[in-house]
Amino acid sequence: MANITASVYTSHVPAIGVAIDQGRTQEPYWQPLFQGYEFSRMWMQDNTPDVIFLVYNDHATAFSLDIIPTFAIGCAAEFKPADEGWGPRPVPVVKGHPQLAAHIAQSVIQQDFDLTIVNRMEVDHGLTVPLSLMCGQPQQWPCAVIPFAVNVVQYPVPSGRRCFELGRAIRRAIESFDLPLKVQIWGTGGMSHQLQGARAGLINKEFDNLFLDKLIADPEAAAMIPHIDYVREAGSEGIELVMWLIARGAMSDVKSGSDVVGGQPPKVVHRFYHVPASNTAVGHLILENK
Ligand code: DHB
Ligand code: FE
Repeated sequence: MANITASVYTSHVPAIGVAIDQGRTQEPYWQPLFQGYEFSRMWMQDNTPDVIFLVYNDHATAFSLDIIPTFAIGCAAEFKPADEGWGPRPVPVVKGHPQLAAHIAQSVIQQDFDLTIVNRMEVDHGLTVPLSLMCGQPQQWPCAVIPFAVNVVQYPVPSGRRCFELGRAIRRAIESFDLPLKVQIWGTGGMSHQLQGARAGLINKEFDNLFLDKLIADPEAAAMIPHIDYVREAGSEGIELVMWLIARGAMSDVKSGSDVVGGQPPKVVHRFYHVPASNTAVGHLILENK
């Protein structure tokens, strides 16, 4: 059986990708940020999974206002880095895992979640920046990646509670796949930031750190945070944090009925918080299942 070994949480600021691609990570502005991910890159080398189930949001790159899927699962064999206006990032093509992705689609849809099945898609900074932060600049990404796109751009967006429940369903799906794959689940985006309007530049360190505390120790409570609180407290783009709840809901301490039992709380192997990166507060966690 496949199983979830760990979950990783990280912001996805596009300027971080530019700093990596242009060799500027040791500049004074960026050095403290990248220092916070040094441990993570070593951890990733020692704990390379077979597959990353990567929860992220597309920023009107693959999807536009023409089609707005709430939850979309990438079932293709590969996903090319998108051109977001300055040419595609010079990073490897993302190799998918069509077999596991199709199984997860089947299982999660039968657990009553509506997923859009995507057989061709380019991936933007929401997916490639977290991979760069965790894996550096390899010739090939170290494992297969299943992109899972969540609409947090155009309202109505899914609630944190629904995202958490979806995480539980994804765990059931992964644990019912009959190849012995090691899978990590990543929740990306956040933390507090607002890119437009009168409050552009908003950062809320207190909210962010309380969110990290809650996500670690009381994820059920984190899942109950209503939309309006993210927007008020963490800014309009702070709503990206609901995606972290999908990853947290898939961890093995989260109980769900009789078939998904609650295990030990996860081990916090790394926690990092840094302001600023562009307009964004950067948060990062690595949680291992015991
Ligand atoms: C920034 C952050 C984001 O999450 C994003 O998608 C685009 C830009 C920023 O801080 O610049
Ligand atoms: Fe974003």
